[in-house]
Amino acid sequence: MIRIAPSILAADFGDLAGAVAKVSSEVDWLHVDVMDGHFVPNLTVGPPVVASLRMHSDLYLDCHLMVSNPGDLLEAFRRSGANGCSVHVEVGDTKELLVEARRLGLRPGLALNPDTPLEAVMPYLEMLDVLVVMTVVPGFGGQEFMPAPLEKVRLARTLAGERGLSLDIEVDGGIDEENGISSVLAGANVLVAGTAVFRAPSPVAAVRAMKDAALQAVHKPTVQAADQE
Ligand code: DX5
Ligand code: ZN
Repeated sequence: MIRIAPSILAADFGDLAGAVAKVSSEVDWLHVDVMDGHFVPNLTVGPPVVASLRMHSDLYLDCHLMVSNPGDLLEAFRRSGANGCSVHVEVGDTKELLVEARRLGLRPGLALNPDTPLEAVMPYLEMLDVLVVMTVVPGFGGQEFMPAPLEKVRLARTLAGERGLSLDIEVDGGIDEENGISSVLAGANVLVAGTAVFRAPSPVAAVRAMKDAALQAVHKPTVQAADQE
């Protein structure tokens, strides 16, 4: 199932509920970028904001923890209403963090930076619900999409298929309608988009266009095949 997950990082933090309301008719996930000013050189939001978002929306809250000590925060995120928490494999203690996230009732996810090889997460694929393949260096929205990580998406989707895993594979960073197509063709099924959605003249139209383009791309081969029969 192809999903668009708007990233609130590009939304108006002075009116988050209003920003979410603009797109909630077209999406069922919301991507919450959590930054601690240490793992990444930027500082954003934490459990209190997730709790407020939860009061205004029943969307799936896909929290991306760009923090050095995610283990200290998982329970607070769960209590605040987060549905999934993705931690960065670069922080270490991966197995303990994934076990704890699952124990708390969160959908566990692993994120990997553009220069982190897929081998770093392979031992943990069976423990995951979400794999976040970063297509920018984490820390800021509005950056240029990096296509090279799509090779990791391709390999991860192949491995998930071989191992019979129903893994959500998410691309995150610089995603727009065009590279969203190459991302789903590589095997991603969740497209995180901040700038392309919340900085668009009409966020809901941007989400609709991105979703339609991605769906068409993944279903087109069958149409071509049918035409050739
Ligand atoms: C970057 C974040 C991304 C990013 C997405 O560290 O993880 O979610 O904010 O925003 P855009 O789509 O603007 O790159
Ligand atoms: Zn993110």
